[in-house]
Amino acid sequence: MKIRAHLEALPPYASIEPFEVLSARLGREPSQIVKLDANENPYGILPAVRKALAEMDFPHIYPDPESRALRKSLSKFTDVDEEYLLAGSGADELLDLLMRVFLEPGECILSCPPTFGMYPFDAELNAVRCIEVPRKADFSLDMSSIRNAVDEFKPKLLFIASPNNPDGSLIEPAVMDELLSLPLLVVLDEAYIEFAGENLGASLSRIREVPQRENLVVLRTFSKWAGLAGLRVGYGAFPKWLMPILWKSKQPYNVNVAASVAAQSALANVGELAKVVGLLKAERTKLLVELQNIPYLKPYSTQSNFILCQVTGVDAAQLKTQLAEEYGVFIRYFNKPGLRDHIRISVGRPQDTTVLLEAFRKI
Ligand SMILES: Cc1ncc(COP(=O)(O)O)c(C=O)c1O
Repeated sequence: MKIRAHLEALPPYASIEPFEVLSARLGREPSQIVKLDANENPYGILPAVRKALAEMDFPHIYPDPESRALRKSLSKFTDVDEEYLLAGSGADELLDLLMRVFLEPGECILSCPPTFGMYPFDAELNAVRCIEVPRKADFSLDMSSIRNAVDEFKPKLLFIASPNNPDGSLIEPAVMDELLSLPLLVVLDEAYIEFAGENLGASLSRIREVPQRENLVVLRTFSKWAGLAGLRVGYGAFPKWLMPILWKSKQPYNVNVAASVAAQSALANVGELAKVVGLLKAERTKLLVELQNIPYLKPYSTQSNFILCQVTGVDAAQLKTQLAEEYGVFIRYFNKPGLRDHIRISVGRPQDTTVLLEAFRKI
């Protein structure tokens, strides 16, 4: 039996190793591992969320396909009417859903690397071309090349993250306005917006504009700021005209009951979560200064919960391996153009910073 031809050639997604696999491989207890490689929230879930999960009423019943209760809470949190909101099994599911809904095999999307690896990955999965317009050396967008690529290839969708992963930079409002004037649907990925600016990124987010525009989608997630990466829950705000087709095309039970309960509880305790985000932002400031003092690292300023560093005089891939094997510290290395001499470090707790810095100083 033949599988679909484009899938035969598909390289596997290079994801990070699960915690228990790591700890078994290295012979270290999970508590002896400092995991700074996937931008998760090291403080874990709030006690209130743990309690809500323990007391969950109906795990034996299929979830609400429309995630009504969650969308109601999200509407209060985002100030966007429920009719524009759709929840997913992580923002990842919504990226894939958008590609499935819009693109015929052979059509194209636009992405601006270095950025999140799922955009080209989902494109390949959907037999779609990913046109890549690299960012400039300072990670800002190359607007004239973007305009040229739009003219030449006519991509239907642009996937763009702000703050961007892996450098943590925000898109300037004027640049975002320019992107929105292009003849395509802009999918703005705000997975890390809660770490930007003040007040969980409220004034920097563009989510409240979605109802006023025809060509803006904003995606968000509970994986990072809310510590729910393992439960898989994200959401998006979409133009009204797009909602009926999204409802028809998604898996009916895409957000499971535990994810929904946890996300609602997180939103009911947003003040507590804001304190955790505050701790991470304070640690980010401290870590940035400390990294500047490591002679072989050149950290970039960031609006997210990670710091990208250029590595000089030391091999970045080797540095990652050495940190893991000798010190139990996990950071991210990307074997990709523009990033081969870089590492990305998630911001952890003060004790994580201590172990990380000690290791850097010994290397
Ligand atoms: C830019 C960006 N978007 C989306 C995601 C995925 O979010 P989720 O865990 O909700 O699928 C990530 C996770 O690393 C990310 O970095």
